[in-house]
Amino acid sequence: MSPLSRETVLSALRAVADPATGQNVVDSGIVSGVVVRGGNVGFLVNATPDSAAAMEHIRRECEQKVSLLQGVEKVTAVLTAEQQSSAPAPEKEKPSQWNRTPIEGVKHLVAVASGKGGVGKSTTTVCLARAFAEKGLRVGILDADIYGPSIPLMLGLKGQPQVKDGKLVPAVSRGISCMSMGLLMGDQAAVMRGPMITKALNQMLRAVAWGELDVLLVDMPPGTGDVHLSLAQQAPLSGAVVVTTPQRVATIDAQKAVDMFRKVGVPVLGIVENMSYLEAEGQRVQPFGQGGGEALSKQMATRFLGDVPLVPVLGAALDGGQEFAIPEALSDIAAKILEQLPFRM
Ligand SMILES: Nc1ncnc2c1ncn2[C@@H]1O[C@H](COP(=O)(O)OP(=O)(O)OP(=O)(O)O)[C@@H](O)[C@H]1O
Ligand SMILES: [Mg+2]
Repeated sequence: MSPLSRETVLSALRAVADPATGQNVVDSGIVSGVVVRGGNVGFLVNATPDSAAAMEHIRRECEQKVSLLQGVEKVTAVLTAEQQSSAPAPEKEKPSQWNRTPIEGVKHLVAVASGKGGVGKSTTTVCLARAFAEKGLRVGILDADIYGPSIPLMLGLKGQPQVKDGKLVPAVSRGISCMSMGLLMGDQAAVMRGPMITKALNQMLRAVAWGELDVLLVDMPPGTGDVHLSLAQQAPLSGAVVVTTPQRVATIDAQKAVDMFRKVGVPVLGIVENMSYLEAEGQRVQPFGQGGGEALSKQMATRFLGDVPLVPVLGAALDGGQEFAIPEALSDIAAKILEQLPFRM
């Protein structure tokens, strides 16, 4: 039996018609990003935000056609609500068309997510916030990690937030406004089920006097479960930054995060590879392997924002809520993110 190839998958997909153009779905550009890994096949079915519902039956038909091929174990066809394109270029993805009410005073809400735990989402969030603030922007962080909030610790914040005119007043550290379950609950652990978490998150997003902010970063908890999905669907996100480490165990989960945002029409602004290397005695060491983040960006046709080194003094400073120097790589990444956010300043 010959191994399953991309060509075989594309030929099977050519049997599915695109009713809008009369062509097949491959030639019309509806299907893109076909990836074959052993018996696992994945591809994107590109809908426009208006046609997403109608395209669901095409997605299913594509999935079914491919699943009939010899050697196929699993097919994942992801419906994206992006602009249709024949090639998966590192796109400026189409802004979300979901009906998400904007947060008063906040120009851009940007999620920092990963799928995997411990890869440096919170570290990246704090460094990006500092980099944005250094560029003169008004910045806030919503710590959406209800069970394991780390932002107050990293920003050196303590104490209960005040309530003013029925709204929570964010705590401020080095010019960064912050709201976190860590501030509301102190050292007590949050004991909540899914719907309660979603409600708490909505309050931490909307019942807060954020004031005028250029960027509000959302430090997402690890995973791609219900809470993540409801936040991605309900929060008026301008985009998402996905953080990974170089190892495959991390990139697999990061891929799920990219898929999740795309599914709900949130543009993925790019992928950051954290803990890429360590400089020791003039030598560059790569303890977690090489190139996983960039490879994932290519595979997902998403922008690669850059490699961030392991900087031991950074980890130590954040653990103690102390002042730190922003790694140059993260300043550059901050600039690449801002390029993608339309600003009227
Ligand atoms: N580039 C880096 N250099 C040095 N230390 C780092 C770096 N990135 C992360 N760390 C350290 O690794 C640990 C995990 O990072 P962090 O808490 O940011 O990850 P996370 O993805 O937010 O984790 P969680 O999934 O638990 O929320 C922290 O102690 C942090 O200080
Ligand atoms: Mg975290």
